[in-house]
Amino acid sequence: MIRTLIKDTPSKTGQKVIVYGWVDSIRSHGKIAFIDLRDVTGVIQLVDLKGNFSKNLGNEFVVRAEGKIANRPEKLKNPKLKTGQIELVIENLVVVSESLEPPFPIDSEGYEINEESRTKFRYLDIRRKRIRNNLITRSKVTNFIRNYLSGKGFYEIETPILTKTTPEGARDFIVPSRLQKGKFYALPQSPQQYKQLLMVAGLERYFQIARCFRDEDPRHDRAYGEFTQLDVEMSFVSQDDILQLTENLFTALIGEIFPDKCITESPWPRIPHKTAKSIYGSDRPDLRKDKKDRNELAFAWIIDFPLFNKQTKEDFFHGAGKSKFAPSHHMFTAPHPDDIKKLDQDPLKVRGLQHDLVLNGYEIGGGSIRIHDPKIQEKVFDLIGFTGEQKKQFTHLLTAFKYGVPPHGGIAPGIDRFLMVILGEPSVREVMAFPSLSSGTISVMDAPSPVEPDQLKELAIKVEKD
Ligand code: AMO
Repeated sequence: MIRTLIKDTPSKTGQKVIVYGWVDSIRSHGKIAFIDLRDVTGVIQLVDLKGNFSKNLGNEFVVRAEGKIANRPEKLKNPKLKTGQIELVIENLVVVSESLEPPFPIDSEGYEINEESRTKFRYLDIRRKRIRNNLITRSKVTNFIRNYLSGKGFYEIETPILTKTTPEGARDFIVPSRLQKGKFYALPQSPQQYKQLLMVAGLERYFQIARCFRDEDPRHDRAYGEFTQLDVEMSFVSQDDILQLTENLFTALIGEIFPDKCITESPWPRIPHKTAKSIYGSDRPDLRKDKKDRNELAFAWIIDFPLFNKQTKEDFFHGAGKSKFAPSHHMFTAPHPDDIKKLDQDPLKVRGLQHDLVLNGYEIGGGSIRIHDPKIQEKVFDLIGFTGEQKKQFTHLLTAFKYGVPPHGGIAPGIDRFLMVILGEPSVREVMAFPSLSSGTISVMDAPSPVEPDQLKELAIKVEKD
């Protein structure tokens, strides 16, 4: 006999089945005992008529139960449970593996439990319904995106993780090279330059569910270390095409996966940066009509950002050169065609073809039309104060642009942040399988960790202890 998934048991009344799963709870009523058994598809009540099978069981044991599916007596039907009409009368039960008592309850929402402990025992934390459902929803979302974009002629292409710095405003993670001692790879802060190179390569419509790495202080809406973007790039498009595609994609996705949600205003409002600042005092305004309504989704586009901001100490440290200006988005964003002349006269007045996607007061995505003229790209490098040496780091891009570059642009919505907002979670960590703590520790693996002296020797690296 093969295994029956718990969700399929209601259609098997009168039949004998085998189910596998974890013991969710055990209730003894004198001789008779009830066991709630859980697999990834649901929970079923097992009836242990003589109480023999449940004697040596504990919560979270993995068991195999065999028996007949019977209709529950009318009074004992539970309309709240999908399998609430039936139960399995145990004929045989085998303990597949035992479990220690979990260090925290897993039948609650879990917000009340210390985060360090939840992260350390994340595989148990994921057993709680809320986190399991968040991860299942996440899988549905990425699957929907893949199908949608593939259907619109996009190609999913992977780009390297071991690469060179891609300045997005954070510190890089660096990885030492063994073959070229003294040199380092940087983990990508985003696939920005690769996706632009793929446009030069003629692929025209690219996307990737891309892992990005940024060494920056975490916040509730910002993961430490790594996070995931839906990275998109297109050739021969206007800013309007990018906005339309994104709007259509998310509208279809919400209709399919979050049918209870309603979008406040469609088409989504497009608000110039200056207007957003003056009316709402923010470039990511919360435009919900009723902020208490869990099902309201207020999307908005913020456009017409300035291309440059006044440079701060922080900008200088994170990759821009020493100058009065720092890129407001990143250094590949195209200036508005009507403002090109101002690049020489008054750079702070130049608008960039940047677009930010805002949802319920969070910036959930950003993108732009890119510079494809090497002369303008060099001018932007100069304005942000790049030295000749710093410019050399981008030779590959400037060289590529000499071989027939199409006009191009794109966007990158953050998957974690989008899910946090739509699921009403207080932190991006609640929608990630194995998040790190704010100290940067991935508790479940206890990373980062020291390495063997031999490994360091091979890399010609000496660690200074402070
Ligand atoms: P940007 O840096 O604006 O753009 O990032 C785009 C989106 O990624 C998400 N995001 C994060 N999510 C969780 N934790 C983080 N630490 C984190 N950092 C960013 C946000 C943000 O809106 N290459 C450009 C995109 C482009 O120009 O196409 C880029 O990465 O939701």
